[in-house]
Amino acid sequence: MTVNAPVAPASLDLMSLEAVSDPHGYFAQLRESQPVYWDPRYRSWLITSHRHVAEALRDPRFSSDRIEPYIRKKLSGPDTDPLVRQAFEVLSGWMVFKEEPDHTRLRRLCMQAFTPQSIAKLRARAESLTAELLDAVRTPGEFDLIASVAAPLPSIVIAEMLGVPVEDRLDFEQWTAKVSPLVSTGLDDPTRYGSVAEGMASLVAYFGQLFKRYTEQPEDNLITALLRAREQDDALSEAELMATCTLMLFGGHETTANFIANGVLALLRHPAQLAAMREDRVDIKLALEEFMRYDGPGKTVVRVAREDFEFEGQHIRQGQRLFLILSVANRDPLAFEDAEQLKLDRPQSRHVGFGFGTHFCLGAPLARLEAGIAIPAIVKRWPDLALAPGPLQWLPFLGTRGMRELRLRTG
Ligand code: HEM
Repeated sequence: MTVNAPVAPASLDLMSLEAVSDPHGYFAQLRESQPVYWDPRYRSWLITSHRHVAEALRDPRFSSDRIEPYIRKKLSGPDTDPLVRQAFEVLSGWMVFKEEPDHTRLRRLCMQAFTPQSIAKLRARAESLTAELLDAVRTPGEFDLIASVAAPLPSIVIAEMLGVPVEDRLDFEQWTAKVSPLVSTGLDDPTRYGSVAEGMASLVAYFGQLFKRYTEQPEDNLITALLRAREQDDALSEAELMATCTLMLFGGHETTANFIANGVLALLRHPAQLAAMREDRVDIKLALEEFMRYDGPGKTVVRVAREDFEFEGQHIRQGQRLFLILSVANRDPLAFEDAEQLKLDRPQSRHVGFGFGTHFCLGAPLARLEAGIAIPAIVKRWPDLALAPGPLQWLPFLGTRGMRELRLRTG
């Protein structure tokens, strides 16, 4: 792997090729010298050490609610495109952007679907789906692992969980793809809103139809369960129902695709551990946590300061934004021995790849289930699997660490 020369803070460019392709190397010096750093260019704090990221994640003075203030500040004028406003209003109902008491209420309503028992029921389906997707890959030759296996697996599983009928899947995926840059980047870029807003409007209209359908004819799926919750003591408003369905969709989709792809990439770059995985000499539970720590798909989460206060010797002002860079915290040598090395048998990792504290990823058991099935199945399927020649293209997103495609070859 290429490791960039450490960068002096004055020249930080979060979307540069270097930062996007190797965030671990790019931010290493900053993490050591100024783990809580005010970046004048982004007018945000960059938090990069494990200790500080973990502290910020559990500190209630940092708020997750950043969408409603944004709507009030930037999207309330008469010139605002109503579709753009609608897209942000849906987002503002996501539990991940909510605070007490709404956050707890929304999280509790969804928790049932993500208990270990509920997730275990999906195992057989996830296994057969993985096998089908692998069978459909045309080899020998070259193929894109993301398009053929890593992306469709979580996308089909979450669509089935929600109750999206098979015949609607293609439309559904196209709308989702349009909205995804909004969810993944984290930086303000109004140019991307047009297509995002269109995609969200289509999803909202489509989910509206599904709500009607499952109100009239309930089935065994997440939408029906949420509709029932809405009927019982008014626990969920129509807007929250819409928000929760779209959150499940985005939460459960690209992140897990990148988890699988980044994990396979890590193995292909570490032949001894690849061999151990193929020969079942690996404890998959530990290995999954190490894939998350080493190069997990959750790169950054954002918080906003609720009040003025001192944090690690720095004066944080109310309303200031913080980027908590999870990927860089997960390679902090003060928190992990041999932090730069992939060690699939690393015991009890305290990585922050799924976040930490009240907003800890609700879908983590599902992501682990899918990646725990897919990663071993992919590397076992082709004993000569290798990276195809050519550079990897990392997505220029702040929130997500993922590749545009992962071209592999066999034969
Ligand atoms: C490897 C895959 C995944 C990664 C890396 C990931 C990462 C994260 C992170 C970092 C957070 C915390 C955000 C914050 O604190 O602001 C989060 C929250 C969340 N994730 Fe995931 N996630 C993944 C998969 C999933 C899946 C499969 C689902 C559901 C289908 C899901 C649903 C959620 C939800 C609902 C929340 C909000 C929880 C709350 O606010 O209480 N995630 N995820």
